[in-house]
Amino acid sequence: MQRLSSEALDQLFLQARTHQKWLDRPVPDALLRELYELAKLTPTATNSHPTRYLFVKSAEARRVLAEALPPSNVEKMLKAPATAVVAWDERYHAQMPKLFPARGEALAAAWATQPTAARDAWVLQNTGLEASALIYAARALGLDAGPMGGFDKAKVDATLLAGTGWHSVLLVNLGYGDAAQLPPRLPRLDFDEAARIA
Ligand SMILES: Cc1cc2nc3c(=O)[nH]c(=O)nc-3n(C[C@H](O)[C@H](O)[C@H](O)COP(=O)(O)O)c2cc1C
Repeated sequence: MQRLSSEALDQLFLQARTHQKWLDRPVPDALLRELYELAKLTPTATNSHPTRYLFVKSAEARRVLAEALPPSNVEKMLKAPATAVVAWDERYHAQMPKLFPARGEALAAAWATQPTAARDAWVLQNTGLEASALIYAARALGLDAGPMGGFDKAKVDATLLAGTGWHSVLLVNLGYGDAAQLPPRLPRLDFDEAARIA
């Protein structure tokens, strides 16, 4: 493994920002597929990958999604060429025979009846990791990302995700951000405020 170039670190971290204003430049479906092929490689517990993605691009899907957003988030989504609805699948355990062949059948059976609190903690942890991977995969492909948690999740689940068994967690707007319209970056905690070495 080699340390990445400073250009790569800039693109992934140092210059990368959360974007909310978008250039009029489309994101082809093939690029969204490439994005998934990178993001799917993030580690998850027992390789369970509970996360699912609905990429919203069409005018009709956008219209429905807009109805689930507070006014402050509507334009940020509508002007983005694509928005990923990041969700988790309530039947994620059914994929364990494929995802973890050594013990998949047993895990699928055990998790089918696991207590809701345990399941929720599991999906919260793993979907967060997978959403983060989506953002960094987007940056690696030259895209910008704009995560948004402010939306009516029950409404999205009952409309765009109806009949899927998927439960929305986060929106990630995707496209080419207008860097000229970025506000200054908010501060971060220094190492000594946020970290210890034991
Ligand atoms: C889980 C999550 C939820 C967020 N929700 C919203 C939101 O509803 N609306 C919004 O405008 N920005 C939202 N943001 C964007 C954050 O405010 C932004 O990522 C943060 O300030 C860092 O900005 P930077 O990447 O430019 O440094 C959200 C970000 C995350 C990670």
